[in-house]
Amino acid sequence: IRKEPYVVNGATYPLDTYSNVPSSIMSKLDRNLHLLPNHPISIIRQIIEDHFSSYTALVPSSAVVSVHQNFDELGFPPDHPGRSLTDSYYLNRDYMLRTHTSAHEVESYRKGLNQWLLSADVYRRDEIDSSHYPVFHQMEGTHVWDHKDLHTLPQLNAELEAKLANCPISIEDNTSVSESNPFQDTHDPVHAQQITQHLKHSLNSLIFRLFGKQATKDGEPLKVRWIEAYFPFTTPSYEVEVFWEGEWLELLGCGVVMQKTLDQAGVSNKAGWAFGLGLERLSMVLFSIPDIRLFWSTDPRFSDQFKEGEISTFKPYSRYPPCYKDMSFWLPAPSGGGSTTSAEHGAAAAGGRGTQPPSKVKAFHENDYCEIVRDVAGDLIESVTLLDDFIHPKTGRQSKCFRLNYRHMDRSLSNEEVNELQDKVQKRVVEEMGIEMR
Ligand code: PHE
Repeated sequence: IRKEPYVVNGATYPLDTYSNVPSSIMSKLDRNLHLLPNHPISIIRQIIEDHFSSYTALVPSSAVVSVHQNFDELGFPPDHPGRSLTDSYYLNRDYMLRTHTSAHEVESYRKGLNQWLLSADVYRRDEIDSSHYPVFHQMEGTHVWDHKDLHTLPQLNAELEAKLANCPISIEDNTSVSESNPFQDTHDPVHAQQITQHLKHSLNSLIFRLFGKQATKDGEPLKVRWIEAYFPFTTPSYEVEVFWEGEWLELLGCGVVMQKTLDQAGVSNKAGWAFGLGLERLSMVLFSIPDIRLFWSTDPRFSDQFKEGEISTFKPYSRYPPCYKDMSFWLPAPSGGGSTTSAEHGAAAAGGRGTQPPSKVKAFHENDYCEIVRDVAGDLIESVTLLDDFIHPKTGRQSKCFRLNYRHMDRSLSNEEVNELQDKVQKRVVEEMGIEMR
């Protein structure tokens, strides 16, 4: 548990009850994988920047943003689950690690730019497995027009359409503009329709650039699917999926920028679209990288495989064996409830006195558990899976059993070493989460 305030780029952020960023996460703030020239994440970024060559590529200075920038300004309601301490990293109640690159939309529009891309590291508390890591990278892209220039859209759309006509791509689009995914009141529906078309053509052509060559090897066209979605800062909103190795894979979220966003940036006279995509997801499938932790490896057997501008297939090198340990525990009895008192507290509870512990006891959340595991084991933890979840029929107490799978990327782990990690995790979760080992 932290005592010192956070210091980032010379600014000090005093701690409060929100502060929940462990030092293992703070240490990621200056890794900048998306800027290392021969790193897969950066290679994908550069290919996208090359594809959208007339767009200005921006890199924000710090992962620390205000809660206002990350959520309020973009219209996230006060009770949005993304805001919770179990899902996001807070330096304190006012500042956090951005959870998405959209946090920089308003400040970027304020610069007066009409076409820009912005890539950055983003942070989310999450479970632990081969495709989730609390730090990942996103790219935001947007194109807006001055109202007086919107009449150029039909011509721009015709050009994009002509380009796509030459690509073997099959687009499934059953989306419609409806009450649940409407155009904005302040937009002329004809313009909103043309912006939506431009968004769709632009992203279909990007996806073809990324996937087309590999996906059409066997003569089949590349399949792309458009789905209606919801984001507080766009409407209409969409998600785009690509058919890849037999599965539909979600690639990005996008939509027509909420006028309110542009108003806040002082550019009310503009309208346009925005998208946000995950660079890890794209890199994992395009380079066949099986584990998200590999991106953080400094092993030359990983880093020497990639070259600027090229999408190549990752050749796995032999991995060291995993080692798993199970951990079973009782969750803290929920406070204030009363019906699920533990056996030990049964007598007191039956006495009807207010003997409940003061309701400091937080509900168990798997993300909190995983955070402690990561803080102790760092990148040695490969996955945490729930094996068993059960409620004792007599006492009503809930127990869970997790399997913690450890693996070192660069060498063998000894059993003793893993036992030591497991003991540390145990100690910390007992102290910090009020759970009781079985
Ligand atoms: N920020 C959104 C996310 O992280 C993606 C998005 C970006 C959606 C821009 C719409 C427009 O999921």
